[in-house]
Amino acid sequence: MYNEKVMEAFKNPQNVGEIEDYSGLGKVGNAACGDIMQITLKIENDVIVDAKFKTFGCAAAIATSSTATQMVIGMTVDEALKLTNKAVVEKLEGLPPQKIHCSVLAEEAIKAAIEDYRNRQKGIVTEKEPEYV
Ligand code: FES
Repeated sequence: MYNEKVMEAFKNPQNVGEIEDYSGLGKVGNAACGDIMQITLKIENDVIVDAKFKTFGCAAAIATSSTATQMVIGMTVDEALKLTNKAVVEKLEGLPPQKIHCSVLAEEAIKAAIEDYRNRQKGIVTEKEPEYV
């Protein structure tokens, strides 16, 4: 069902874990299946210098988390906000149609982590429950 690139990202995921002194944390869930993804970002001068994920979810969710974190490291926050699930799926050379929705989690988790980062810069810190997308 999955291509080799997806299987490799699933079996050997990169950037697994949580950044202790993160600049922003995003936690999102898939309302349909209940899977949850958390992404933490370390941001310096508006550039993402590190990204880590913890995903309780399917192979597509894990593969897209790994790939999305790899893609955003080195991006400015504005560039990362433009990262779409489509770009992540393209990087993985495709997902089965019924698994495309899983890739939305990575895009949304990155956006949520950047929103958290921006809120923290304004002194707003909230311990968030997952937002379901
Ligand atoms: Fe839940 Fe893929 S089935 S994220």
